[in-house]
Amino acid sequence: MDLVHGQRASELFQAQSHLYKHIFNFIGSMSLKCALQLGIPEIIHNHGKPITLPELISALQIHPTKAGFVHRLMRLLVHSGFFVTTRVHINQEEEEEEAYDLTPSSRILLKDNVTNLSPFLLAMLDPVLVSPWHFLESWFRGDKVTPFESANGMGFWDYADQNPDFNDSFNKAMASDSGMMNLVVKDCKPVFEGLDTLVDVGGGTGTCARIISEAFPHLKCTVLELPHVVANLADNSNLNFVGGDMFQSIPSADAILLKNA
Ligand SMILES: C[S@@+](CC[C@H](N)C(=O)[O-])C[C@H]1O[C@@H](n2cnc3c(N)ncnc32)[C@H](O)[C@@H]1O
Repeated sequence: MDLVHGQRASELFQAQSHLYKHIFNFIGSMSLKCALQLGIPEIIHNHGKPITLPELISALQIHPTKAGFVHRLMRLLVHSGFFVTTRVHINQEEEEEEAYDLTPSSRILLKDNVTNLSPFLLAMLDPVLVSPWHFLESWFRGDKVTPFESANGMGFWDYADQNPDFNDSFNKAMASDSGMMNLVVKDCKPVFEGLDTLVDVGGGTGTCARIISEAFPHLKCTVLELPHVVANLADNSNLNFVGGDMFQSIPSADAILLKNA
């Protein structure tokens, strides 16, 4: 038994691979973001059947010198479960070639899926939201309220208020996360029965409240949100938007919904 400072060599290898896994974890999320930005899930979907590497490369709008790296990107994303490989016949011959197909996790990044989480992925991996993680240590040592403030010089909601593009992409991310409510309202009907009014506190641009109000047309829904989020949103007969601060007051209702707020 080989011992190094009292530890077995096999334990050391295991410890090192564990450490490396976590050191390089970000490569997984950044590669997924890259695949989405390159449009790979949509390309495979539009292809209508598993796509071979040469077919994928020719559908991608990338610099010719980068073609050789697509295989590496796909290998990593197959390993992490976003694509699978299968064998397909080429040219109606016996010959087979490897081809990539979608998995349930990449299907929910497609535009026409009931839940399209692409806006969520892109917003959560935006440098504005990733960079605060580089400030965790200084946040612990300093007096800033959040790591976001350490990184961006102001609180999250003020930043969203002052940066319309970021505000838009964050609100779209939240709206995309609400797509699952379509399934929730079907599965959890009894939760909403007997209610006449509901207020969604911090309800974003109203995707969740809209889904609920369409599923239960007798229910009057209100979205309470920060003014910059709801400034240009139109009310309808059973959905209205109120600009305000939940820490000041909340419109009265039979039920309060808080989702990610
Ligand atoms: C993480 S998002 C969740 C949005 C939505 N509930 C959802 O799940 O899709 C939190 C929301 O709370 C809103 N918010 C933050 N502070 C607020 C406050 N003081 N009063 C009302 N809304 C607030 C933000 O503008 C944001 O839209």
